[in-house]
Amino acid sequence: MGLLSKKSLELLMREADGTGGEPTLKRTLGAVNLTLLGIGAIIGAGIFVLTGTAAAQYAGPAIVLSFVLAGAGCLFAGLCYAEFASMIPIAGSAYTYGYATLGELVAWIIGWDLILEYLFAASTVAVGWSGYFTSFLRDYTGINLPAALTNAPFNVEGTHTLVRSGAILNLPAMFLVAILTTLLVVGIQESARLNNIIVFVKVTIVFLVIGFGFMYVTPSNWEPFIPPNDGTFGHYGWSGIVRAAGVIFFAYIGFDAVSTAAQEAKNPQRDLPIGILGSLTICTVLYILMARVMTGVAHYSELNVPDPVYVAIAKAGPGLEWLKPLIGLGAIAGLASVVLVMLLGQPRIFYAMSRDGLLPPVFGKVHPKFQTPYVSTIITGAVAMVVAGLFPIGLLGELVSIGTLLAFVIVSAGVLVLRYRSPNLHRPFRTPLVPLVPILSILICGYMMSGLPGDTWLRLLIWLALGLAIYFLYGRRHSRVQAAERAGTQY
Ligand code: ALA
Repeated sequence: MGLLSKKSLELLMREADGTGGEPTLKRTLGAVNLTLLGIGAIIGAGIFVLTGTAAAQYAGPAIVLSFVLAGAGCLFAGLCYAEFASMIPIAGSAYTYGYATLGELVAWIIGWDLILEYLFAASTVAVGWSGYFTSFLRDYTGINLPAALTNAPFNVEGTHTLVRSGAILNLPAMFLVAILTTLLVVGIQESARLNNIIVFVKVTIVFLVIGFGFMYVTPSNWEPFIPPNDGTFGHYGWSGIVRAAGVIFFAYIGFDAVSTAAQEAKNPQRDLPIGILGSLTICTVLYILMARVMTGVAHYSELNVPDPVYVAIAKAGPGLEWLKPLIGLGAIAGLASVVLVMLLGQPRIFYAMSRDGLLPPVFGKVHPKFQTPYVSTIITGAVAMVVAGLFPIGLLGELVSIGTLLAFVIVSAGVLVLRYRSPNLHRPFRTPLVPLVPILSILICGYMMSGLPGDTWLRLLIWLALGLAIYFLYGRRHSRVQAAERAGTQY
């Protein structure tokens, strides 16, 4: 007992309606805004940065197949998220779904694991932002920031061991996290309108790169489509495609952030599934086309850089010179918005966990004037800043990917479990073809996890072990659901 304690759907609904005494959020978002919110959180460092490294090191032109594989895994996971989001339309995302269905221990594991998705993703995208920002300054203002202050002091070499890179800190990445955290503390409302404008800019630039890029393709760059494996697992060949899929899977992360806006949705039961699946489908198509163009305009071996879209378009020559500053600006605005959404989402999850007693009350503290969860926002920002300053993007991206894949596997398993345990619950959106779709989601996401390097697995295991230690030392003893169960009352 205890570890399997669940939060009743009834209680969750009361919390969402505000009849539980909690203030409610304003329901203003419709299907279109939710889809745009998803696109805003999805398009970022994955496509603008990691695609280059993944193509150069792992998959070659077959990176397109990695996008198809990762997109399929996300689509199946997205269908499972959609079922939960329509059934439990409450902010807090997978942590809350876990608490309602699989019990407290699994909920804690998902919540702890989501730190890898949100907090670490904020750091990862900030590092990507730094790459574009530095190139932009250099090319358009002549300001050359010293490499020692714009790169991580640690690098990953060969077998993924950390070595000193000679740099001191990635200052621009830290600066971005600091600014956005400050904005979030003083209560910036990430208004749907601002997001819509940034999405418009990002998507327009992606369309321009695809449309104009196709005119400058050198078809021989696509040959051989799948470069032969060089004898090492994950270096080209089929294993390279799988490993690259695990890396660029990062590019798809964010569609689940739509579910964190559940309480701001006008008609969540209908519109959350539309927002989740709509944003995912649109981005999948754009990504496949974009990857095809990038590996067609430049040879994949030239893309192992922090700003591969920029480098690819530069290869096209003077004809596309005009597009380069637009890519720079689009990436700078677009990546910053992803960091903002991630830094906004993390404190909400901490807030939910603290409200349930699994984290200390300080994480749920709301600022009297700004009405923001300022302590958890500052903690999130401070940790994200240090991580962004110290580590290279490849290492961070893989850690975020493995953590998010694990969350997807657990959510998909949750759909299966709940279908068998409570078949008659009202499900406004039903994942089609159960059990096939959740099983495929588990298999594909698990397969992508298996393609990630052993060291990334080790880092995940250490992270989870740390989380379990905290749960048994703190959360379990302070859980409000367990306390209510012991007292025989309802929390
Ligand atoms: N999908 C988001 C990105 O690529 C996290 O930046």
